[in-house]
Amino acid sequence: MRMLVTGGAGFIGANFVHLTTRTRPDVHITVLDALTYAGNRASLDPVADHITFVHGDITDAALVDRLVAETDLVVHFAAESHNDNSLGDPWPFVHTNIIGTTTLLQAVRTHDVRYHHISTDEVYGDLELDDPARFTETTPYNPSSPYSSTKASSDLLVRAWTRSFGVRATLSNCSNNYGPYQHVEKFIPRQITNVLTGARPKLYGAGLNVRDWIHVDDHNTAVWTIIDKGTLGQTYLIGADGETDNRTVVETILELCGHDTNDYDHVTDRPGHDLRYAIDSTRLRTELGWTPTYTDFRAGLTATIDWYRTNENWWSTKKTETESAYLTAGERVGVTRIRRS
Ligand code: NAD
Ligand code: TYD
Repeated sequence: MRMLVTGGAGFIGANFVHLTTRTRPDVHITVLDALTYAGNRASLDPVADHITFVHGDITDAALVDRLVAETDLVVHFAAESHNDNSLGDPWPFVHTNIIGTTTLLQAVRTHDVRYHHISTDEVYGDLELDDPARFTETTPYNPSSPYSSTKASSDLLVRAWTRSFGVRATLSNCSNNYGPYQHVEKFIPRQITNVLTGARPKLYGAGLNVRDWIHVDDHNTAVWTIIDKGTLGQTYLIGADGETDNRTVVETILELCGHDTNDYDHVTDRPGHDLRYAIDSTRLRTELGWTPTYTDFRAGLTATIDWYRTNENWWSTKKTETESAYLTAGERVGVTRIRRS
């Protein structure tokens, strides 16, 4: 089987390529990636001999058409993926997430190629902290940020191409991922690398916001399960029952690194900051038989900390750029200190 992976030099895409070369050596993988600030060719070094890498943009219709014509399956990870950046400049998000997805859909439509669309639970907006509800496949879309609204747009485009043109597609909306090769702008790697470089972790606002953490390998085994067994036209939510508030995550990282668990700063909160995400993945588990492997969050965090500790070359340059971007964007250490009783 020939597979085109967009965004394969990014966090989840690179882990997907690694997993696939380990478990499905018969799949020939072509990666299409623009190597934006978020892409890192080095993330594919361990599998470089097993894949074809194409440096290009998913909005390049001629290139996309040629690559799609030569494949049996497209798995679309490429995106602008960081909420904070989308608040500063939404245009790259419109370009890649909406125009790029449309470009891919036109090509899979022309060549009748199977397509899997990677998306986020953030399309559903947020939940109250004390609400027992979780997102399901029928929760109405209600995105909050330019990032999540462009991802919601891309999902709707896929649904329209499925219904109007018969495109053979499945969709998945996953909760927050963690694991190796994640850009240091994101919450968990930012805090780990802060601790490793002698800086203090940075918690937005009071840190009560909840995210439903899943290990990236569990996300990717779920994606393969959907490709293998999913119903065309269907959406599947991916989650591993990992709800944790941000303050607990920071305190756990500090503890696992042998630091005082109060050794962090509260900084300027994100405008429009979603309170809580939580996934009900019953459909995926009962209809397709998927289960997560990394159910011990502390163990997963420990392994992730070890990965960042031993791969400083992979992140050190990006760390300097990222921290100065946060300062330029106006991040300031606050005075409010909220302690657990
Ligand atoms: P990432 O930012 O780490 O990687 C994105 C990759 O896409 C990079 O390699 C970048 O170079 C590439 N890219 C960006 N614009 C491109 C373009 N125009 N053409 C070609 N390549 C381009 O993102 P990620 O965290 O790996 O997320 C991958 C996908 O998973 C995204 O669609 C995201 O919305 C979704 N998702 C992410 C999470 C999460 O927790 N990170 C959770 C659920 C869903
Ligand atoms: P992030 O990794 O940006 O993912 P998302 O916005 O897609 O959920 O952030 C995860 C959570 O961590 C979110 O509630 C914002 C918060 N956060 C911090 O408290 N400090 C930080 O330095 C960052 C980057 C995020």
